[in-house]
Amino acid sequence: MTGPPGGLRVRAFAPGRVNLIGEHTDYMGGLVMPMAVQMGTTITATRGGSRIELTSEQVPGTVSLQLPIQDASSVEPTWGRYVAGVAAELGASEGMVGSVGSDLPLGSGLSSSAALEVATALALGDDGPPRELARRCQLAEQHATGVPCGIMDQLASAAGIEGHALLIDCSTLELTPVPVPDRARIWVVHSGQERRLVGSAYADRRAECERAAAVVGPLPDADPDRIEELADPVARARARHVRSECRRVRDFAAAFSIGDLVGAGELLQQSHASLRDDFEVSTPVLDELVEHLCSVPGVLGARLTGAGFGGCVVALAEPGVELAGWHVRAAAGARVELLD
Ligand code: GLA
Repeated sequence: MTGPPGGLRVRAFAPGRVNLIGEHTDYMGGLVMPMAVQMGTTITATRGGSRIELTSEQVPGTVSLQLPIQDASSVEPTWGRYVAGVAAELGASEGMVGSVGSDLPLGSGLSSSAALEVATALALGDDGPPRELARRCQLAEQHATGVPCGIMDQLASAAGIEGHALLIDCSTLELTPVPVPDRARIWVVHSGQERRLVGSAYADRRAECERAAAVVGPLPDADPDRIEELADPVARARARHVRSECRRVRDFAAAFSIGDLVGAGELLQQSHASLRDDFEVSTPVLDELVEHLCSVPGVLGARLTGAGFGGCVVALAEPGVELAGWHVRAAAGARVELLD
């Protein structure tokens, strides 16, 4: 596709992410510890005009949008909703013509949608700091999909640091880089189960957490006795997960920083159990995969990663272990370059 004559040619890249630990805590102001990975999404485009025209190397259909965007949530093909959401959030008046390529497996739990959003924002000329870029992309995803997601995925993609996981306090967006120990190997293994009903179940979980927080205050630091006194057993279990998960994130970061991989692996197991029993976002297929991976010699721990209800498992292993998945490395965050 040819671009508007004389426009600036750009290449924007945004990585996917894997969340090591800290699941379903970001939207409650808790701790998370994701890392950007080496795989990601690239938009190569020429800026200019008042339309966005993008083709994808992976999926059929052309995204063709007139600026300003009226309603991102009804755009077809559906991947265009993320593009439109970002353009709307940025208030973009200058469009672009180009193509999107990605080596991220789509819809797997490696945040292909966040990578597309962040790459779109950079390609359209957003030059704000990573936190603001991430916030705009989070709002774009919320508007485009109707899912009240947190900020973790977009911030990990925007702010990744090579060789480091990011300990993020989602109440302040304070970000502490934690080096990934030399001997740690991180694997992402797909369960073979497509994530289903994520949108509505995700919104339900968030509402249940908010119900609990309305009684006991911010869940990451809530008094455990008050949580146990909650009359509603569902809100009680959700709150228990968020509070205990935030403690596990802190302990995991401490274990990583002294190279205690065995301790880190145990925390992954505990996180999975809490997501399964208290937060109820696992599935029998995910539970079985976690159990299987943990029986492989050299695997130190595993848990579901991302929203749950299918998708992927993250495993921590020693060097030399080979699993049927993606060996991911902690990579740098999103960037844009001007071509010619
Ligand atoms: C999805 C959301 C994130 C986060 C995770 C669960 O990936 O986009 O904001 O809430 O689920 O930890």
